[in-house]
Amino acid sequence: MKKTMESQELNKSIFLLQPSRPILCTTKNEDGSDHVAPFSWVNPVSFNPPRIALALSNSPKKQNSLINIERTGEFVINMPDMRIADKMIEASYSTKFGENKFIRSGFTGEEASAVAPKIISECQSHLECRVIEIIEPGDHKLIIADVVGASYNQEAYGVDLHINTQNFQPVIHMNDYCLEGSQLHLLANIQGTVALNVPYPSNNKDQECK
Ligand SMILES: Cc1cc2nc3c(=O)[nH]c(=O)nc-3n(C[C@H](O)[C@H](O)[C@H](O)COP(=O)(O)O)c2cc1C
Repeated sequence: MKKTMESQELNKSIFLLQPSRPILCTTKNEDGSDHVAPFSWVNPVSFNPPRIALALSNSPKKQNSLINIERTGEFVINMPDMRIADKMIEASYSTKFGENKFIRSGFTGEEASAVAPKIISECQSHLECRVIEIIEPGDHKLIIADVVGASYNQEAYGVDLHINTQNFQPVIHMNDYCLEGSQLHLLANIQGTVALNVPYPSNNKDQECK
């Protein structure tokens, strides 16, 4: 039986879109040092030109990553896997004054090909992004960016950039709970690929295929 949500709880309707696939976003701090934080609200928005959109909280708390992106116009989307899921979540925890989150995380930074922020070696793929527009649809700012460089681990992706689940288990985030002294995050485990062959309707076989 379906439940209709009350209008005052519609802000929770966003959770009906779960699971999400968090990424690690790297940016440059004002002093030129590296910064990292995880974000789930990321989506492709165009094939040609290749473009993605990333939604970062602006109010009541403005993300440090957003401050860096607004100042520099550049960031990298790094795809983590289950092996570094704990470090990815830790990268969402705030730092003590003067502490650098990228250094605290222990991630290895590598030069990107087209932008200044580093790529994270421990991640399986990387989209190097340059901002074209930032809009403010609500309490998050939506950053629309060109993908100006990309790289990936060839063992993690097979033909047609299909994820090789033997070597790359993506982080699929279901939910999280705040406990005393920690956060509990529920992640789904991909065991493999399910091949679903869905025939075209018999009265309309002339379908477009990407
Ligand atoms: C799995 C996960 C997904 C998250 N997704 C988002 C998101 O899409 N947008 C956002 O603004 N914050 C998101 N956060 C929260 C930020 O990571 C967190 O506020 C972090 O402290 C921001 O770091 P910064 O201020 O150094 O940029 C997420 C956190 C986790 C653990």
